[in-house]
Amino acid sequence: MKIKAAEFVMSNSDVAKCPTARLPEYAFIGRSNVGKSSLINMLMQRKNLAKTSGRPGKTQLINHFLINKNWHLVDLPGYGYAKVSKKSKKTFQKFITEYFKNREQLVSAFVLVDCRHEPQTIDLEFMEWLGENQLPFAIIFTKADKLKPKALERNLKAYQEKMLESWVEMPQYFVTSSTHATGRDEVLNYIEQVNAA
Ligand code: GTP
Ligand code: MG
Repeated sequence: MKIKAAEFVMSNSDVAKCPTARLPEYAFIGRSNVGKSSLINMLMQRKNLAKTSGRPGKTQLINHFLINKNWHLVDLPGYGYAKVSKKSKKTFQKFITEYFKNREQLVSAFVLVDCRHEPQTIDLEFMEWLGENQLPFAIIFTKADKLKPKALERNLKAYQEKMLESWVEMPQYFVTSSTHATGRDEVLNYIEQVNAA
C-alpha cells in the first residue's frame, strides 16, 4: 500500500467521542515504550505524526489518524507501566477496555511486543482477553534492530512455543524495526489485504 496521506484527527479518552465515520480501523497496543508511536511514524514515513519518547507513558489518549482518506490508524497508551499512578492506570485500563469492547469500526489490533524479551504475562493475558472477546489481532515484534539474527530467531521460536500452549496456532505476526523500516511493506500489505477482503 502506498501512503498518500496521513493526518491527525483527534485525541480523546472517551470511546463515545471517537470519529463516527465508519472507516476500517487498526489499533496499535502494547506495553509502554514498546515502540507503538515510533512504528506508526515508520509506517507512515513521518517523523512526528505520533509523539514518541524514551520515557514510558508518553501516549496517554486514544489518537486517531486518517490514512489515505479511507482508513483509521489508532495510537493507544501503553499498558503495564509501573510508574504511572494507580489512579491513572485504572483510567487507562478502563478506556482501553471500552475502546476495544465498543469500537465497531475496529478491524484488527496489532499487539506489539519487544522482540528482546521473553513472553510477558501481561501481553499473553491481553491477547487471551482479545481472543475471548472475539477481537482479531496480529502480533508485531518490535525493535528487531536490537538483536542479532540468531538471537531474534531464537526469541521468535520461544514466543511461538509459548503461544501454542494456549492457542491452536500462532497468530499472524510481523517483525519490525522503526529505525530500519523493517517490516513496513509486510504490515501495510496486510492492512491493504484485510481492507480489500
Ligand atoms: P508509550 O506511548 O509510552 O506507551 O510508548 P510507545 O510504545 O509509543 O513507544 P515509543 O514509540 O514512544 O518508543 C519508545 C522508545 O523506544 C523511544 O526511545 C524510541 O526511539 C525507541 N524505539 C521505538 N521503536 C524502536 C525500534 O524499532 N528500534 C530502536 N532501536 N528503538 C526504538
Ligand atoms: Mg506512544
